[in-house]
Amino acid sequence: MTKIIPIISAGGGVGKTTLSLMISYVLSRSRPRRRVLLVDVDPTAGLTLRMFGDLAYQRLLNERRSLMDLIRDYDSKAEVSIKDYVVYGKQARSYDSDINLYPEFNEVAVLPPGEGFDEFFAENQNVDVGRIVWNILRSSNVDAMFDVVIVDTAPFFDKRYTLIALRNAERAIVVLRPTLTDTNRTSSMITKIARQFQRIGENVPAFTLVFNFDMNKFLIEAKTLSEVLCIERIEMESMKPSTISIAAGRAKRINEALRRNLDELINRKDVRLDYLRFALPHDVKFSDESFPQMPHEPRRRLEDNDKAILELTLKPLIESFGIKIDTTFDIDTTPCQSTIK
Ligand SMILES: Nc1ncnc2c1ncn2[C@@H]1O[C@H](COP(=O)(O)OP(=O)(O)O)[C@@H](O)[C@H]1O
Ligand SMILES: [Mg+2]
Repeated sequence: MTKIIPIISAGGGVGKTTLSLMISYVLSRSRPRRRVLLVDVDPTAGLTLRMFGDLAYQRLLNERRSLMDLIRDYDSKAEVSIKDYVVYGKQARSYDSDINLYPEFNEVAVLPPGEGFDEFFAENQNVDVGRIVWNILRSSNVDAMFDVVIVDTAPFFDKRYTLIALRNAERAIVVLRPTLTDTNRTSSMITKIARQFQRIGENVPAFTLVFNFDMNKFLIEAKTLSEVLCIERIEMESMKPSTISIAAGRAKRINEALRRNLDELINRKDVRLDYLRFALPHDVKFSDESFPQMPHEPRRRLEDNDKAILELTLKPLIESFGIKIDTTFDIDTTPCQSTIK
């Protein structure tokens, strides 16, 4: 059975697309290699544009390679196949010869969103749009062609895209910064999602929080996250987990309001919710300036250590979806001295 990994967030610009790309990178290097489909359910096409750029995206639209086109054709054709609507990394150069993706993305398929979601939603008011979309995906051979489907979404400010991604999913990844704003927004998003699924009589998915932020800028937040949730990161030098309060050493105190927010979020009893014990690596090497396109400057290229950090950091996250990842060595997290009882 194909595994579905929806990646959602309450706010924008928190790193959903970055994490989608990181996970597909790790999966395409894993043994056995997993056949990954990235579904871009963000009408701004952030993921597709980041991988292929503006010129290629326009050409893809002309070729009718997108989710919107798949949905439209499903109504008019006897049979549709997902392979006619996706684009693989290895095909990128046939759309724009300047594209220089990491070779790990050669076998990764992307389904661009396409244009016209507004009309689609307007035509399907009071309809379970998520169910329609997944029926179409499943009838177009997705299960036979892919082992893992990663669904990148738009922020929950427009909840329709999030709800499509979550429909039929057992678990979802929620990306956030350790800030008051993000914890508040995330909390109310989860409440609304739970209500919506209960309303239609479906199981509420489990949620895994993933913290993504620049530890050199959010010092008090890093210290708080470390003390409350024992969040660690994999160190470049040792390849071992180390507490992020070391990075936040310059922060003298923790943020009490944030501590309470984190405490409440993690201890919610109305939904199944846990969190990744590692913060995502945060570096220009993983930013849209350098990833997934190979940057011109060699010092921005991923080195073996960067790749190992990605694998070690994401392994527990990917495995929580029932996908086993073999890494060259394993690590244990240090026992948590959390202030949460
Ligand atoms: N871990 C990270 N390391 C470096 N840059 C990051 C990281 N996460 C996000 N960014 C940068 O922050 C911006 C927003 O990230 P993005 O993944 O597009 O967020 P979203 O998809 O949630 O809107 C992008 O410019 C991206 O390169
Ligand atoms: Mg995005």
